[in-house]
Amino acid sequence: MKELKDKVAFITGGGSGVGFGQAKVFAEEAGMKVVIADIRQDHLEQALDYFKGKDVKVHGIQLDITDRDAYAEAAAEVEKVFGTVQLLCNTAGVSQFGPIEKATYDDWDWQLDVNLKGMINGIMTFVPRMIEYGQGGHIVNTASMSAFVAVPSAGIYTTTKFAVRGLSEALRLELEKYNIGVSCLCPGGVNSNIHEAVKTRPAKYSNTGYYGEDPKVFAELKKAIEWGIDPVELARITLDGIKRNDKWILPFPEFIPLVEKNHAEVMEALHRYEDHPDVERRKKMMGTPDF
Ligand SMILES: NC(=O)c1ccc[n+]([C@@H]2O[C@H](COP(=O)([O-])OP(=O)(O)OC[C@H]3O[C@@H](n4cnc5c(N)ncnc54)[C@H](O)[C@@H]3O)[C@@H](O)[C@H]2O)c1
Repeated sequence: MKELKDKVAFITGGGSGVGFGQAKVFAEEAGMKVVIADIRQDHLEQALDYFKGKDVKVHGIQLDITDRDAYAEAAAEVEKVFGTVQLLCNTAGVSQFGPIEKATYDDWDWQLDVNLKGMINGIMTFVPRMIEYGQGGHIVNTASMSAFVAVPSAGIYTTTKFAVRGLSEALRLELEKYNIGVSCLCPGGVNSNIHEAVKTRPAKYSNTGYYGEDPKVFAELKKAIEWGIDPVELARITLDGIKRNDKWILPFPEFIPLVEKNHAEVMEALHRYEDHPDVERRKKMMGTPDF
């Protein structure tokens, strides 16, 4: 999507961090009509306060992306206020650290619900509308460098982000014919408020093997991201990636050694079986079903 001015952007998690950076850049620098959707009313209000008095078109909706009915209502509201969404930023995400062996089912369910199923809800809600509108568009799915490399104590988060990467690759292939681009944005460290993500954890998932709302833990977690990129700078890079229809938006080359090591291991594991007697037969048969 090369021309963004006056087009409608819908940003989940737009009240803080990466999403708020996107809202600022898309509204102020690209001249888009921007919808900020966020579960936290305080984040939403702070974001809307920032835009007060500025010559921009911004609309706020309190939305829990895991709530499918609310998502459909939000889409209907956007269409009334601004028109059809042509840029969907699936940005909202949560994290909670701890080893997999200490996780409860609630720990799994919460992060999978928000980071993966919440994104699926966004795609299910807006992709049919974009296709029907027939004017093309773009989707930015925020994964993480955790979509490429696993680190200890981030197993659940890593699982969700690897899934987001797969979803993004598949979606990109399938939406190309509708002129809808898909980019997978994979941040490394971003100076955001993700250190206090557990504040939005719903009561139905209260059983945790990890930590709760503990200021000391929040302070430790903040130390791990406060050196990170500024969300506005990341959003400017993202904007360029959208205009070029980049498959990957990966402005964190400090991760090159880790990703190279991972990929080298994958290639080594594949090459190990090259001389297996059945390989040539399978190569001749290979194809994908045509649905
Ligand atoms: N901060 C980092 O270092 C970093 C690194 C890699 C990837 N990311 C990813 O960036 C994305 C944005 O995170 P951030 O760092 O800006 O965090 P953040 O906490 O500052 O912002 C996330 C926003 O999403 C909202 N949110 C949470 N659950 C929601 C839900 N169910 N429905 C709607 N809104 C919800 C929060 O209220 C918050 O305003 C996430 O997907 C995260 O995984 C962040």
